[in-house]
Amino acid sequence: MPLTLRHMRESDIGDVVHIERRVFTNPWPTYSFHHEVSISNCSFMVALVAPPRVVPAIHRPRWRFLWRQRGNGGERVVGYGGLWVVADEGHISSIATHPDQRGNGYGELLLCAMLHQALRQSAGYAVLEVRRTNHIAQALYIKYGFAIVDTKRGYYADGEDGYLMRLDLNDAARHAITTRWGAIRERVHFTDAYTTTPHPRLNR
Ligand SMILES: CC(C)(COP(=O)(O)OP(=O)(O)OC[C@H]1O[C@@H](n2cnc3c(N)ncnc32)[C@H](O)[C@@H]1OP(=O)(O)O)[C@@H](O)C(=O)NCCC(=O)NCCS
Repeated sequence: MPLTLRHMRESDIGDVVHIERRVFTNPWPTYSFHHEVSISNCSFMVALVAPPRVVPAIHRPRWRFLWRQRGNGGERVVGYGGLWVVADEGHISSIATHPDQRGNGYGELLLCAMLHQALRQSAGYAVLEVRRTNHIAQALYIKYGFAIVDTKRGYYADGEDGYLMRLDLNDAARHAITTRWGAIRERVHFTDAYTTTPHPRLNR
């Protein structure tokens, strides 16, 4: 399935919130995504989208009507992520793939794309928070060289501890990210309009 990686749009937010509510205990509210996409001056939200479903001709008018209403032309978000770049810090604020699309390499693609973007924006290091029990996400971050640098007691609303993880974006990390990005591009068929084009609003 040919995918597109691009800056998140307002029209993606319906799908994004749907995934968010399925996968997180304390999901971000819709207005947070609106803020990140349309107001923030440091946010580089990313969406990985699949093309519209192929539907039998007889059902097409109905689907076209629905797609017009949603304003997304039928594209479906399969994963997304959030990156803030403030001064020389790249902060991974969010990352998730659709529960039906796990294990396809999309989570890694999104993380690597955001690290690529952080480098592009001249960040010197990347940080993120992750639940103590979220071993799957931790495995992904460790694969990219993130290390636990602090424990935030009761960081999450339900009282669970969070780990602060950090990756220095030095020459070795830059090389590793570039190499991994190349390997992902060979493995997953997608068009990249996220790391190759400036942010549509911030123009950088
Ligand atoms: C974390 C998440 C984004 C990974 O997405 P994914 O598309 O399934 O991941 P990928 O297929 O790209 O796998 C990338 C790496 O993640 C880790 N991983 C993925 N699934 C795993 C599993 N079931 N067990 C252990 N590690 C796993 C591995 O390191 C894997 O690399 P490998 O294939 O070389 O072993 C996804 O599980 C998710 O959306 N989780 C819910 C939201 C969440 O917890 N976000 C993180 C908040 S801090």
